Amino acid sequence: MSKTVAVLGGTGNEGPGLALRWAKSGKYQVIIGSRQLEKAQRVASELNERLGGELIRGMANEDAVRATDLCVLTIPYSAHHATLTGLRDLLQGKILIDVTVPLKPPKVSHVNVPPGGSAGQEAQAILGAGVRVVSAFQNVGMAHLAEDESHIDCDVLICGDHKDAKAEAIALAQAAGMRGIDAGPLQNAVVVEGLTSILIGINVRHKIKGAGIKITGI
Ligand SMILES: NC(=O)c1ccc[n+]([C@@H]2O[C@H](COP(=O)([O-])OP(=O)(O)OC[C@H]3O[C@@H](n4cnc5c(N)ncnc54)[C@H](OP(=O)(O)O)[C@@H]3O)[C@@H](O)[C@H]2O)c1
Repeated sequence: MSKTVAVLGGTGNEGPGLALRWAKSGKYQVIIGSRQLEKAQRVASELNERLGGELIRGMANEDAVRATDLCVLTIPYSAHHATLTGLRDLLQGKILIDVTVPLKPPKVSHVNVPPGGSAGQEAQAILGAGVRVVSAFQNVGMAHLAEDESHIDCDVLICGDHKDAKAEAIALAQAAGMRGIDAGPLQNAVVVEGLTSILIGINVRHKIKGAGIKITGI
């Protein structure tokens, strides 16, 4: 039976692209989570229309967490602390893949290091040792996720302190059409999150939408 992955805050820019790709791969049952059930159901139904089948369900974030051990978080950094505090108890024993980039508007192309070292480390501190936090997918823009081709010409750097949890993120990257690369412990997330600001700046300077990263030599 295929695994279930829940995309919390999956109603925005980044979440639906990931959800669509995971559902399309046939390897995952996908749940879109939202603060509002109706919004989650609406986005799920829009994605299902594009997929031509009822492959994605919409749920309130809390129910989405209850439904699986594998959760992905795609929310703005400004909502990170409060959202994780609210979901902390429900997430115990599970894997949380954090896509959050601690951008500091308006200068989103300047690297911002948050007080806890990185959003990934802050998530781990908020959730405690009972949750295996992985940091991933921050360098893949929504423009790439929306491409028709199944392969995306970007790598996904994956940071975390639990090998089994990182293996889940590597499998998710592959199912979304990318190569997932173990980039070391969660403390390395600061660099991966920071790269996103650099990519945003490159996008602006080159008038493009999808600067990305690829590791050579592997
Ligand atoms: N967009 C990209 O291309 C991209 C690329 C790489 C990484 N990222 C990172 O991925 C994360 C999500 O990006 P995004 O562009 O998808 O963000 P977004 O569209 O602004 O927001 C995503 C979802 O977060 C939820 N949300 C918004 N404010 C909230 C709040 N105060 N409390 C709780 N939930 C809230 C909303 O879901 P509900 O209203 O349904 O609850 C919203 O649909 C960010 O940290 C971003 O830096 C984005």
